[in-house]
Amino acid sequence: VQTGRLTAGTRLPASRTLAADLGVARNTVADAYGQLVAEGWLTARQGSGTRVAEHVTPPGAAPAVARPLPSAPRYDLRPGLPDLSEFPRAAWLAAARRALSAAPSAAFGYGDPRGRRELRAELASYLARARGVRATPDQIVICSGFTQGLALLGRVLAASGAAAMAIEAYGHQHHRDVIAAQGLSARPVPVDDHGAVIDAVGEVPGAGAVLLTPSHQFPLGVPLAPRRRSQAVRWAARTGAVVIEDDYDGEFRYDRRAIGAMQALAPEHVVYAGTASKTLSPAVRLAWLVLPARLLADVVEAKSLSDRHGSSLDELTLAELIASGGYDRHVRRSRLRYRRRRDRLISALAPVRPGVRVTGVAAGLHAVLHLAPGQREADVLASAAGRGLALDGMRNFRSPGIAHPEALVLGYGTPPAHAFTTAVTRLRAALQEHP
Ligand SMILES: Cc1ncc(COP(=O)(O)O)c(C=O)c1O
Repeated sequence: VQTGRLTAGTRLPASRTLAADLGVARNTVADAYGQLVAEGWLTARQGSGTRVAEHVTPPGAAPAVARPLPSAPRYDLRPGLPDLSEFPRAAWLAAARRALSAAPSAAFGYGDPRGRRELRAELASYLARARGVRATPDQIVICSGFTQGLALLGRVLAASGAAAMAIEAYGHQHHRDVIAAQGLSARPVPVDDHGAVIDAVGEVPGAGAVLLTPSHQFPLGVPLAPRRRSQAVRWAARTGAVVIEDDYDGEFRYDRRAIGAMQALAPEHVVYAGTASKTLSPAVRLAWLVLPARLLADVVEAKSLSDRHGSSLDELTLAELIASGGYDRHVRRSRLRYRRRRDRLISALAPVRPGVRVTGVAAGLHAVLHLAPGQREADVLASAAGRGLALDGMRNFRSPGIAHPEALVLGYGTPPAHAFTTAVTRLRAALQEHP
């Protein structure tokens, strides 16, 4: 307590527990606690145990300064998250219970760096039926989010002599940072109405891969045109590079046009990457790479060196959730909910003011709102912030040095149902405020 290691309010172990830990009689501990309570270091209350007293300031410790917390916006239409209030808690818990009851004792030890076979087997068949991916359980590596998958791929490519990774000019800064952290230069290629311009990929010197979001470009929302898909695969075959297909929201498509995974075109040249971050929640930290044979051993080794393997218990739970049909049910329900939200967003914004256009809405959990001529992103963002509404502008997603349209990237998955209407009303007001 004196040195500040035990802070005010910290609960101390029960006297019986501490006595057992220290190998002394329980009375010895009870006496010591009694003495410290008498001296004012500790407080003891029936039912809440023994705690470090609130008013004790360790000598020499810096005085506690009440720092104002940044006030969190009440409403949020930034992209990147599903509706966290809809996480299927009961189904996840039930799956965890079933998975843990059925797991052999060996499952609680160290395992395969690729992750539990049960999950890889479930994913191989799920990805085939839901996304048209061609995969066997052996070529799947479970990762802690797509983020780790991208880092592992970057590391392997850099080790094999690549100098760069081509990326779409618009995307997450975090992904660009992850690529750079592996020693690769992230080189942007333009994106137009047909998706990434693959001609420009060929101009990136030393590119070991191109990272694409073919089913729904993040954040512009366009699908990669069939011609460009074949072109990307031909480029990979010609140069020995790979295409990394980031299929982050492929489950959420609302028009009738099913857009299957590009991996099926050429499994030997495309790494397919999927994640549970949108279908369930980013907190699950489960994602999967389907790897071409030539990369498999190196990625498995990188995974093993990085963290040995992921959490077998979470992997078994997800395997059970998929096997029981609970995952598909949740995805189906979520798709319906998000589709309704998207429709409400579009109809609320259609008449907002001339010149405002909403695009990229055929899929996913976000849309792009192009501002009216003369309207500036920064003004709308500031006006929304004044109304307690957090928004993201396109500026936050472009690669350094790339021009960007004055536009907002609206995530409609985020607000819980009861807050969605208010969030959209405030968005309308912010859009109408500026000339
Ligand atoms: C474009 C894109 N790729 C991938 C991901 C998933 O990343 P992770 O699996 O690390 O949460 C996201 C966020 O959900 C994303 O927006």
